[in-house]
Amino acid sequence: MDKSRRQFVKAGLAGGAIAASAALPALAGASAKEKGSSAKSLRILMLGGTGYIGPHMVSEFLRRGHEVSLFNRGRTNEDIFPDLETLIGDRDGGLDVLKGREWDAVVDNSGYVPRHVADSARLLASAVSHYLYISTISVYESFAVANEENSPLAAMTDESVEEVTGETYGPMKALCEKRASAEIGNDRLTILRPTYICGPGDRTDRFSYWPVRTQRGGEMLWPGMPTDPIQIIDVRDLANFTVDCIEKNIFGTYNTVTPVASYTIGDLKNDAVAVSAADITAVWVSGEFLAGHELAAGSSIPIWASPVGDSKNVASVSGERARMVGLQTRPPRETCRDILSWWKTLPAERRDTMRAGLSAESEAKLLSDWHQKNI
Ligand SMILES: NC(=O)c1ccc[n+]([C@@H]2O[C@H](COP(=O)([O-])OP(=O)(O)OC[C@H]3O[C@@H](n4cnc5c(N)ncnc54)[C@H](OP(=O)(O)O)[C@@H]3O)[C@@H](O)[C@H]2O)c1
Repeated sequence: MDKSRRQFVKAGLAGGAIAASAALPALAGASAKEKGSSAKSLRILMLGGTGYIGPHMVSEFLRRGHEVSLFNRGRTNEDIFPDLETLIGDRDGGLDVLKGREWDAVVDNSGYVPRHVADSARLLASAVSHYLYISTISVYESFAVANEENSPLAAMTDESVEEVTGETYGPMKALCEKRASAEIGNDRLTILRPTYICGPGDRTDRFSYWPVRTQRGGEMLWPGMPTDPIQIIDVRDLANFTVDCIEKNIFGTYNTVTPVASYTIGDLKNDAVAVSAADITAVWVSGEFLAGHELAAGSSIPIWASPVGDSKNVASVSGERARMVGLQTRPPRETCRDILSWWKTLPAERRDTMRAGLSAESEAKLLSDWHQKNI
């Protein structure tokens, strides 16, 4: 893959890994047990339950009547689950607090460094019956091809590298998967590979940018063609599927994505307009034009990638295997609607500092250049 293209694709997907501090949605009823849940109550250990996707998973476990222990350093949203057992430690050499304990299952949500995943998997191998590792679709070697779970994975050129960057994120997650498998064995391991995780609480703003920007109205830049595919996973659908995998002993590797060819950037435009009731003039700016324009520092065109060359199939990852065992994905319009409801609850300074997308100036400049070109 061409290096700049690869960096663009990988950095886009890795953004969640290197995002700034949290802004959480109200997880209503997070500690209320669901009455009449038929599944046996399980003891769950969450490695990283206080970031973005972790709290959605914790809430779903609690809602279904399970017991959850949290393991983290005590730095991120430390007050989010005051009633839960919190074991303070560091994945980097500080796992002692987990020794001598037992759980039915562990969800490894915070594993980016292969050594950390190997250490926790080794320590927990005899302490849990089920290890579920949250990976990513960035593990695939190439997006020139349409990937399914058996597609070739990216490899680290130097396996000792531990710095997470746009370039190393995918190969490091692939190596994390390998390390988990070596320590746990495939018969007790579940690996989930989500694409862009979207919804209330997302700290990256990559998907949120589109409905939030639409709400402002006026002339709005949309990239490529309305028919260009995009793929996402709503954080709540991922959380539901994670809990299903634990409750139903679903092992193996699963891409967690919306169905191939089910959603386009044009659909996102329509959904964003519908849920915001905003009046926009959509201007579709070609992928070639965007590729030839350097974006201002801090600006990006998130979620969409031109469906050509090395990014051709970023949004064509098969999620059929997960669907066959029960993954359900909600209509993205619902995700857009709930993002806007959550967005309203954020403090003004957070709403004023979008973490992805185009700044007003950058968008205006691109639109002006595009119109000039098309005179
Ligand atoms: N966002 C996306 O679109 C996307 C897409 C695909 C896959 N993923 C995957 O989703 C997961 C990210 O989940 P997230 O956003 O909820 O979490 P996150 O922000 O990556 O992780 C934060 C959680 O991990 C804990 N943590 C971080 N470093 C730790 C350490 N050294 N030792 C112990 N605990 C540590 C944090 O608590 P403390 O700070 O208190 O320690 C917090 O609970 C990752 O595995 C990522 O690869 C994300």
